Order: sequence, then C-alpha cells, then structure tokens
Amino acid sequence: MKLAWLTDPHLDSADKPAHRALAGQLEQCRPDALLISGDIGQAASVIGYLDWLAEVAGCPVYFVLGNHDFYGGSIPVVREAVRAHAAADRRLSYLTGAAAVTLCPEVALVGHDGWGDGRVGRAMESPVRLVDFYEIQELMGLEQAALVERLEGLGAEAADTLEPTLLAALGSHEHVLVVTHVPPTPESAWHEGQSSDDDWSPFFVCGAMGAMLQRVAAAHPRRRITVLCGHSHSAGEVWIRPNLQVRTGGAEYGKPGLQAPLMIMDGAW
Ligand SMILES: [Fe+2]
Repeated sequence: MKLAWLTDPHLDSADKPAHRALAGQLEQCRPDALLISGDIGQAASVIGYLDWLAEVAGCPVYFVLGNHDFYGGSIPVVREAVRAHAAADRRLSYLTGAAAVTLCPEVALVGHDGWGDGRVGRAMESPVRLVDFYEIQELMGLEQAALVERLEGLGAEAADTLEPTLLAALGSHEHVLVVTHVPPTPESAWHEGQSSDDDWSPFFVCGAMGAMLQRVAAAHPRRRITVLCGHSHSAGEVWIRPNLQVRTGGAEYGKPGLQAPLMIMDGAW
C-alpha cells in the first residue's frame, strides 16, 4: 500500500502553476490514500481546496486541519463546517474526532489537528506573536495569560479526544499512524535543522499531545506509533521512545509538494 503525504501546502499562497505541479506529483505517485497534516488553506478556502485535492488525488483523502485553516474564522465553526462537508463526501475523511481507520490488518490511522499549546518553553515571557492571535476568533485580543490558558485548553482537548481513539487502534493493530498538525515534542519541532527554542516551542509544540503519546507508547511496548506532523516547515525524524517515532514534514510557501511516499508491505514499512 502506498501512502502519499502532504503537509502545509498553504494552497492560498501558491499560484496556478504550483497547483498544477502538485496535481502532477499526485498523478505520478498514484497513491492508495493521501494523508494531509494541515495548513491547507484558510477558513474561507479550505473546503474548496479539500474538494480539489480529492479530485486530483483520485484516492481516499485523510486529513487534519492546521492553525492557518482557521484564519479569518472560528475554530469550532470551521471544524464543524469541514466535518459536515467531509461526512457528505466519501472521498474525504476528517480524522479529528473520528474513529480509527484500518489501513491494513496491521496498521491503523488516527489523527487530530493538535495545537501549539503553550506547555513547552517559556510561553508567558515569549516575544513571539503568531498571526493566529490576530486572525483566529478565539485567540484575538487576549492578554498573554488568557491566551496561554486558551492554547493549553486547545492542546488538552486534542490529547483527550485522541487518546481513546489511539487506545482502541492499538488494541487491534500492531502499528498506528497518528496524523496531526503540530509536532508533539520540542525535538520534533524542527526549524532550519534545529529543535525549536524556548520562545518558539510554546507555539510549535503540542505538549499535551506529546505527554499523552509518550504515556500510551510506554504502556504498549509491543506496539508501534508513528506520528506524521508539519507546522514548523522543516523536515526531520526523531525517535522519542523505542516504539514512538515522530516524522515532521518540510514545506515551503508557494511550492506545495508531497513528502516521500510511505509504503506498507505485508503490514510493515
Ligand atoms: Fe501551521
């Protein structure tokens, strides 16, 4: 089974030739499924881009949303609109809040958007101001303490929602792929070949997700978990535990493109 993986395509930042180039890559790849780890467009454009991707991929599309997908909108409103849209289109599966998907008897797929949740690094002292804090309804106009509290809540919601789904998947599969937008640990939040520092980590790491994944992986030493994420736009791979690997996909604004395909053969890769 061949899985294509696309992360942070930011299709609203790419011109028509770049869109055509991505469609060409998908046509050449001929995947059995397309996995997308978020930052597809913005609130007003993400559904249209999902439809276009389903059209050009010609295979089932499993996706989560990234922070950019909420720009110009509200997190719960966009999630609900995307969920309702995907529920009515059998090509599209929004993994956030959904049950595990069996890719083959050995491998399952789960996912959640995740969020840079202020738990890792120095959130209160950080000078970093993301566009998120001006473009996403729930994050606008907040003092730092209230902002950090809201980010923590988004991270906790992500981990709490995903945990039972992940546990169910590990109960019946040897290997579970977790698709999420935000890297779960500072080691996996690559930026130009380095891990994120204490100023950036609060917004580039989903600490609650990382803690949950490490706890679940420790409790299932004979199972394997592979996380596919993006958000930091720099590629890297790191083993957090012997059975927990995080792969972060690279991305460049204006040049959406596939990561190397993932192959599952006889239940292994
Ligand atoms: Fe992002």
